[in-house]
Amino acid sequence: MAYSVPKLTDYSAAELEKASAELLAALEMESSAVDGEAAWKLFRDRWMARKNGILTQIRESWLKTAPAESKRQTGMVVNDINWAVEEAVKEAKNRYEDLAILGYTGADKDEAPRRRVSAERLDITLPGIRRPLGAEHPIVKTMNEIVSVFRNLGYSVEEGPEIETDYYNFEALNFPPNHPARDTQDTLFIAGQESKPLRERLLLRTHTSPVQIRSMEKMKPPLRVVCPGKVHRNDAPDATHSPIFHQIEGLAVDTNITFCDLKGTLDHAMKALFGSSVKTRFYPSFFPFTEPSADVQISCIFCGGKGYRDGGRCPNCKGGGWIELLGCGMVDPNVYGFVDYDPTKVSGFAFGMGVERIAILKYGVDDIQLFFQGDVRFLEQFG
Ligand code: DAH
Repeated sequence: MAYSVPKLTDYSAAELEKASAELLAALEMESSAVDGEAAWKLFRDRWMARKNGILTQIRESWLKTAPAESKRQTGMVVNDINWAVEEAVKEAKNRYEDLAILGYTGADKDEAPRRRVSAERLDITLPGIRRPLGAEHPIVKTMNEIVSVFRNLGYSVEEGPEIETDYYNFEALNFPPNHPARDTQDTLFIAGQESKPLRERLLLRTHTSPVQIRSMEKMKPPLRVVCPGKVHRNDAPDATHSPIFHQIEGLAVDTNITFCDLKGTLDHAMKALFGSSVKTRFYPSFFPFTEPSADVQISCIFCGGKGYRDGGRCPNCKGGGWIELLGCGMVDPNVYGFVDYDPTKVSGFAFGMGVERIAILKYGVDDIQLFFQGDVRFLEQFG
């Protein structure tokens, strides 16, 4: 008669031993009867099925009902049985597979292991499984590229916090309280700060320029730094705006730095980023922390600066032949006053550029939102 799990009447060591021995004898007998895949599956399920296999039954009817003082002993017996069943199921499989090999080749029983090895031989010349590699996000890639252009010029990299104080984001950059220049940067303020003095109130930095101040507080001139990072503005998202974007700030302070140094540096950087045939021009502008200030334009990389292509007006530069790319200028002497640099001894320049804007131009992307949507069909093109 087929084995069935008995109820245990008492949990003495002798009784457990006896029940366990009966079970293992049945296991061995049933295992040796396995002669093919179908029989093996029945065997496996009868002993190991989660729902009503013999292992589950002994856990339910032996282990759970064991009195507290016999739990430990019973647990050990059940563990041993578990192990024995797993082994028996594995062995039974090997055995019927060996039988199949023997049947197929008509070989001798002693040859089974060797046949088995050759049947399971691995062809290591087969191509492997290709795992898709991740790629740098195009914004990170562009940021790294820009940073490396400046590292090659001897700049070091500085970072600052995304949650800034009014002082670093505005005041020390020569934006006085209530100055209209603040309105050009739609600022996201942290709520509940009204009780603090204005300069200590927190906001999400609207640009990377505050890292200029933090760098000058930390280091004495001469100083050359680039500061990549994330910035925030209260802008509704559309094809050319995003409330979160990235900038790279640059600052060089030394003795006798002139506007020529600024022009030469940025002209070199634009050629390194967009190709040596690109031209730059500097257009008067205004920023509170630089004087004079300029917007840098590059000759349109789509029409070669001609203003027309494919028999019509170039849509990228709108026919003008130039594309505005970044802001820059000579550091305003007022700014040195905030960081204890002597404006009679040092001079310097600063610049700030939008990373998305540069990536859009470099890669011909037509919607800034693509950078933030995480669609792999877009992202994997940069791998
Ligand atoms: N911070 C400016 C902005 O976000 C960009 C900028 C302009 C940075 C001129 C500079 C600079 O360092 O000199 O609009």
